[in-house]
Amino acid sequence: MQITVQAKSGELTFDCGQHESILYAGLRQGVPLPFECATGTCGTCRARVMAGDIDVQWKQAPGAARLKPDKGDILMCQTRARSDCVVRVPSELAIADAARPAARRGIIRAIRRLTKDVAHFDLHLSAPMSFQAGQFVVIEAAGVAGGRAYSMVNFAADCERLELLIKRKPGGRFGDWLFDELQGEPAVQVFGPLGRAVFRPAEDRNIACIAGGSGIAGMMAILDHAVQADHFRSHAGALYFGVRTLADAFYLEQLSRYVAASHGNLDVVIALSDEAAATPLHAAFPLLKLASGMVHAVAASEMAARDRDVLTYVAGPPVMVDSTIRSLIAGGAAIKDIRYDKFG
Ligand SMILES: Cc1cc2nc3c(=O)[nH]c(=O)nc-3n(C[C@H](O)[C@H](O)[C@H](O)COP(=O)(O)OP(=O)(O)OC[C@H]3O[C@@H](n4cnc5c(N)ncnc54)[C@H](O)[C@@H]3O)c2cc1C
Ligand code: FES
Repeated sequence: MQITVQAKSGELTFDCGQHESILYAGLRQGVPLPFECATGTCGTCRARVMAGDIDVQWKQAPGAARLKPDKGDILMCQTRARSDCVVRVPSELAIADAARPAARRGIIRAIRRLTKDVAHFDLHLSAPMSFQAGQFVVIEAAGVAGGRAYSMVNFAADCERLELLIKRKPGGRFGDWLFDELQGEPAVQVFGPLGRAVFRPAEDRNIACIAGGSGIAGMMAILDHAVQADHFRSHAGALYFGVRTLADAFYLEQLSRYVAASHGNLDVVIALSDEAAATPLHAAFPLLKLASGMVHAVAASEMAARDRDVLTYVAGPPVMVDSTIRSLIAGGAAIKDIRYDKFG
C-alpha cells in the first residue's frame, strides 16, 4: 500500500505494510513525520485522512482525546492502512537527522531489581542498532496490547545489547508482565531507534540533565557517551536526579564513576522530594551531592547560579517535564536549548 503525506512543506509518498503503523512505515523509510512518544499518548503524530481506508489500533489512546474522528483525524502511530491513503499533517515535515529506525526481534535477558519498583534489563537484538544517546525503542510483547517506549541506558556504536530500565507503574500492563509474569527469556518485537532529545558531542555545548524517576534512563546514556568522548575535559555538565527518598535512588556507583572521570566538571545532585537530605554529600557515594525538594525547583535554583550557555535535557513523567520547562524558561532559558521526553 502507498501512503501520500501532504504537509505545509510539500507532498511525499511511501510504502506501508499491512502490519505496521503509518508512522513507523514512514519513519523507517526516512520520511520525517511529526512524532514524540510513538506510543499513543502525546498527540504529536495527528493527521487527517483525506482518502483511503484505515484501521485504528487503539481507539482510547490518550493522544486521541482532542482529535475529530468524524473529520478523519487519526494518530499515525496507532493507525494501519487498509488501502492506499492520502493523509494531511498540520505542520512542515521535520528534517530527518538521525539513523532510520527499523523493526528487529529482541530477547529480554538479565532482569535485575534496582529498587522495590525499578528494574534494569538487557535486550539482545537480532541485528545491531546504531543510535544516539537519549533515544528510545518501542517494545511489543505477546500478550500485552500495544507498544511501550524505553530509553537506552547504555551507549555504544552498532550495539547488539541495549540496556533498559523500567519503573513499575501501579496497574501498568507491561510492568506487571515484566515483574510478575515473564518466564525464561522471552522474544519481543522492537522498533527504533526513535527520539530527537539526543546528545551530540560535536554540538560543543555545556550540558545539564534533569531526570524525574525513570527519566534517568536516557540521561545515563548521555553521560555514558559524554564520558566516552571526554566531553567534560572542556565542557561543564550537571545531572539533577529526582526521586522520592534516598532508598529510591539507583545507578549511584555508575554515576560516581562518571563524576570521577569528569576532570571535576560534572556535578551530580540527587533531589529528594519526600525527605530531607541528611547530609550535603551521599554518605556511601561522596562524589554525589544531595538536596531536598522537587527536582525542577532544585535544578532551577542551582542552574540560576551557573553559566547560562547550556543545553538542557529533561525526561520523566509529563507533569515533571512541564514544570521543569516552565522553571527553565522563567530562569531565562530559551526553548531551543531544551530537549525533552515525556514518559507518559
Ligand atoms: C519517549 C518515552 C520514553 C520512555 N522511557 C521509559 C524508560 O526508559 N523507563 C520507563 O520505566 N518508562 C519509560 N517510558 C514509559 C513507558 O513507555 C511506559 O509508559 C511505562 O513503563 C508504563 O507502561 P505499563 O504498560 O506498565 O503501563 P500501562 O498504563 O499499561 O501502559 C502505558 C502506555 O502503554 C501504551 N498502551 C497502553 N495500552 C495500550 C493499548 N491497548 N494499545 C496501544 N498502546 C497501549 C500507551 O503508550 C500507554 O501510555 C517512556 C515513555 C516514552 C513516551
Ligand atoms: S507520537 Fe503518536 S501519539 Fe505521540
